[in-house]
Amino acid sequence: MSHSSEPRPMTARRSGPLRGTAQVPGDKSISHRALILGALSVGETRITGLLEGQDVLDTAKAMAAFGAQVERLGEGEWRVHGVGVGGFSEPEGVIDCGNSGTGVRLIMGAMATTPITATFTGDASLSRRPMARVTDPLALFGAQITAREGGRLPITIQGAADPLPLRYRTPVASAQIKSAILLAGLNVPGETVVIEAEPTRDHSERMLAGFGADIRTETTAEGHVITLQGRPELRAQPVAVPRDPSSAAFPVAAALVVPGSEIRVPGVSRNPTRDGLYVTLLEMGADITFENPREEGGEPVADLVVRHGPLKGVTVPAERAASMIDEFPILSVIAAFAEGATVMNGVAELRVKESDRIDAMARGLEANGVRVEETHDSMTVYGMASVRGGGTAVTHLDHRIAMSFMVLGLAADAPVSVDDGSPIATSFPSFVPLMQGLGADLG
Ligand code: S3P
Repeated sequence: MSHSSEPRPMTARRSGPLRGTAQVPGDKSISHRALILGALSVGETRITGLLEGQDVLDTAKAMAAFGAQVERLGEGEWRVHGVGVGGFSEPEGVIDCGNSGTGVRLIMGAMATTPITATFTGDASLSRRPMARVTDPLALFGAQITAREGGRLPITIQGAADPLPLRYRTPVASAQIKSAILLAGLNVPGETVVIEAEPTRDHSERMLAGFGADIRTETTAEGHVITLQGRPELRAQPVAVPRDPSSAAFPVAAALVVPGSEIRVPGVSRNPTRDGLYVTLLEMGADITFENPREEGGEPVADLVVRHGPLKGVTVPAERAASMIDEFPILSVIAAFAEGATVMNGVAELRVKESDRIDAMARGLEANGVRVEETHDSMTVYGMASVRGGGTAVTHLDHRIAMSFMVLGLAADAPVSVDDGSPIATSFPSFVPLMQGLGADLG
């Protein structure tokens, strides 16, 4: 786990044209959900293409601790024998979710309406992150919650024995809050309703429907309203996990900024609640084509062909933030090579991710000669004809900060280093060999 491993400094150097095919791993959000819904269904769920990053492995271990049978059959191929809605048993030990905000928040939701007690912990990064955004609504279902000061981990939840249905408006755009409530709502009689001002990633809704739950989404004057009927019998399903657009963003970005590059990234999810980066890149003038659009595992996917070319700075509207929330670090690297300024609005949530991503990107870009301006909820990156490089960025246990600076180094004049690349294993364990396979000089 990243919190127990030694720091691993890494360096990326200016590279020749990147060429080839980037087979990026399975989607992290969908992988967590496949394991959790598999554990809550009756029967055997076969998962293919599961992301075997540490975050997801920690969720697999947690599902076993709650009583599901979880077995790895081969690379990315897993079998989960579920216990059914309300069937979780009390874990013997503490549930360690490592670095994963998605893991801990969704699992807390999944157990909060079952009368068992569990204690959750995580690494130094996860232990700094806000959890009250999830535990507050879970307490409204009737769960008893004890947290550290500020609502932080470790947290103990005594699940509600007679949970009450909930109608809840999320205070910030967050698929993790929405999903925690929906998973809790599974074991509650009656309707659980979540209202979001802006739509966030909808993998939970899609997958719950696929497993047989009665769930519907409407856009009303109140916002985006999701209604789930409680106590369904979830039926085990095969899940083919599509490739992760957030991981694809790193080789895509590298091809956009390294002169002469042309790469192919097959089978990437094009779910409209996740594609804000790709919308933005097209506005910047990026040469990206989407071939063979099709459906895989209930998600729209396409093969991406990406070529280097000139890019211009744009203003990213606040309404788009939720659909690219994990992509702002890499967008800020791409923006450093664009002509003019790129303004990212409505991004305050970046301050409570695996690190304060606005601060981590701004300090690291400045250390490499890039001018950045920040406010609490915006960041502006001033593009330049050539990026000096030569600096070391601090990654603060954040995989996306580490990968972003590795991409910066591939096109900067001087090498770019990070103090610790070990967190990359949480979401993209094959990042280094994959990038090297395209011709990138990093490691
Ligand atoms: C995720 C939701 C997002 C995202 C995270 C994965 C999910 O977090 O940043 O990487 O799988 O639901 P928030 O819900 O906190 O925005």
